[in-house]
Amino acid sequence: MQEKKDICIGESDAQFAPTGLIVLSLGAGLHGEALLQSLLVDSQHRRQGIGRRLVRRAEKAAKEAGVSSVHAVTDPENEPAKALFASMGYKLMLLWSKGL
Ligand SMILES: CC(C)(COP(=O)(O)OP(=O)(O)OC[C@H]1O[C@@H](n2cnc3c(N)ncnc32)[C@H](O)[C@@H]1OP(=O)(O)O)[C@@H](O)C(=O)NCCC(=O)NCCS
Repeated sequence: MQEKKDICIGESDAQFAPTGLIVLSLGAGLHGEALLQSLLVDSQHRRQGIGRRLVRRAEKAAKEAGVSSVHAVTDPENEPAKALFASMGYKLMLLWSKGL
């Protein structure tokens, strides 16, 4: 099983102001695979391809770490996030959960 480790990947604009962030958590998936977390693009910079690029960079880092699949959890009502992952070939799996 993959050792647990978080890799934070960010992007910034020409003035070095942050525009987007993603965290790749290795060893955190349902079966110890990689989990994409905390994907966030600054509202002024959305629909410019930053989110897709961050996901690609996280996938590359996961591959380099020897991981063969990645997962992402989205709110069922988060249409932008669902559209982004669907457009990148992610398949939807049902997951039941309960807050305790
Ligand atoms: C979801 C989020 C990260 C997308 O980032 P982004 O940089 O705007 O996304 P991209 O420009 O790379 O878009 C990639 C694709 O995602 C889809 N998409 C992104 N935003 C969308 C929107 N508002 N409505 C519909 N589809 C959308 C499109 O298919 C888009 O491709 P296209 O522009 O060629 O049509 C951004 O909206 C965000 O930070 N939201 C708030 C935080 C959040 O919900 N994070 C996800 C947690 S899982």
